[in-house]
Amino acid sequence: MKNIKAIIFDAYGTLFDVNSAAEKCKEKIGDKWEKFANFWRTTQLEYTWLRSLMLRHKDFWQVTEDSLDKSMQAFNIDKSMRSDLLNLYKILSPFKEVPETLKILKKKKYKLAILSNGTPSLLNELVKSNNLDNLFDDIFSVEEVGVYKPDSKVYDMPIKKYNIEKNEVAFLSANTWDVSGGGNYGYQSIWVNRNNSIFDNLDFKPENQITDLNKLINLL
Ligand code: LAC
Repeated sequence: MKNIKAIIFDAYGTLFDVNSAAEKCKEKIGDKWEKFANFWRTTQLEYTWLRSLMLRHKDFWQVTEDSLDKSMQAFNIDKSMRSDLLNLYKILSPFKEVPETLKILKKKKYKLAILSNGTPSLLNELVKSNNLDNLFDDIFSVEEVGVYKPDSKVYDMPIKKYNIEKNEVAFLSANTWDVSGGGNYGYQSIWVNRNNSIFDNLDFKPENQITDLNKLINLL
């Protein structure tokens, strides 16, 4: 990859494992924990896209709660689990290679930032609870523009702040639709494909895909 000035990471699903909240409750939830976690995540994302289209923004925490309520109902999960699941969502675990990779990248000359649907306080708590708070130059939250990814106003934020060209950003996401969103916007988008998944047909194919974040170091 050439001319990269900033490395921008998606947060949920890319740096942090969104299934880790339900996984930590798997004794109580039982075998359905993973299907439930996937349903919660899908519903949460659908709500972000629908709210953006309806011009009825609610912040990511409220959307996370709303989608949890539907998911708990759909999977018949006891109401007493609600607060545990929400508290665990605030301190999601990072994928295992993430802390080490960020520390290596920090020593290089790039700007390092998060660009996420999360609220500033959620994202700050997430990086702090995982001791990653001193590794980022910036945490860009959609709350600054009041609309969710993949609206171009979101992807504009780092370009404006750093006064750089779109193709000087290496954007990493494990969410295929977000890789497409960033790529269609003009970033050099990289797909973090941990689970050997299939890419979307949204008029953008990433030039680079990696199986975990550590592989980024060889690409730069
Ligand atoms: C985020 C969502 C896409 O962190 O996971 O923005």
